Amino acid sequence: MKKFAVIGNPIEQSKSPIIHQDFAKQFDIALTYEKLLSPISDFKPTINSFFDAGGIGINVTMPFKDEAFASCDELSPRAKLAEAVNTLTYKDGKLLGDTTDGEGVVRDLLFHGIELKGRRVLLIGAGGAGKGSVASILDQQPKELIIANRTLSKAQHIVDKVPGAPVVAKGFSELDGNYDVVINSTSCSLTGELPDIDPSVFKNTVAAYDMCYKKEKTLFNNWLELHSKALTIDGLGMLIEQAAESFRIWHGVVPDTTEIRKVLRDL
Ligand code: ATR
Repeated sequence: MKKFAVIGNPIEQSKSPIIHQDFAKQFDIALTYEKLLSPISDFKPTINSFFDAGGIGINVTMPFKDEAFASCDELSPRAKLAEAVNTLTYKDGKLLGDTTDGEGVVRDLLFHGIELKGRRVLLIGAGGAGKGSVASILDQQPKELIIANRTLSKAQHIVDKVPGAPVVAKGFSELDGNYDVVINSTSCSLTGELPDIDPSVFKNTVAAYDMCYKKEKTLFNNWLELHSKALTIDGLGMLIEQAAESFRIWHGVVPDTTEIRKVLRDL
């Protein structure tokens, strides 16, 4: 049996085992996928003993994505840009790191019929979640990617890592109001806050994506609906699609996500 896991602290809430088992069933792949609770200061020994026992891959969640990044022998280009790793693969004695979060957002947007190609995309937030999605957004060839963050220097740091790409950093007060697609990567919806942005900038927005998800509509998506005609999408599909991309890395096949979307929405 092939061995996989998701590591975090806390980890009990993780839906990754349900998702990966659903995908495995689609291809008749026999695997175990467990939840690994790691002590905060023991990430490296915990993953080492999992791989020593024959483990093949681990998904990494809070708060270990930075430490996973620092632990790898080899990194994908998108993980280098994200400065974080959510997918570890142990192969030929080497630890390989990748990040699939950005692919999760892009694929979920596509699932909802939203293409980024040729569009002006506003990414709000430049923390871990924002940084993690930039490579995948740029792969879609938007006309322009505007990264807006409360702390401008963090957005600028990302822009500086992709010279020549159609991407700019802005402060919230510099936004000008013509964004086709808006993606919220801040932690605002979790903390019950809204970014300090004049909502008139959303008037022409056709789609809004909040990386958070809740049973009810997120605060950010409610706000967007109030100030635009945008289709609003929350981050549940991102969770599923990032898992699908990890599954592809490990098993070489792309699962269908339609059924598991319904299952998780009802949980
Ligand atoms: P995550 O890994 O979830 O992205 P993070 O790395 O701590 O978490 O980043 C949080 C993001 O939410 C940052 O972009 C942060 O802005 P700052 O870099 O200026 O701190 C953003 N954020 C959090 N609370 C916010 C608020 N009230 N208004 C605007 N942005 C906020």
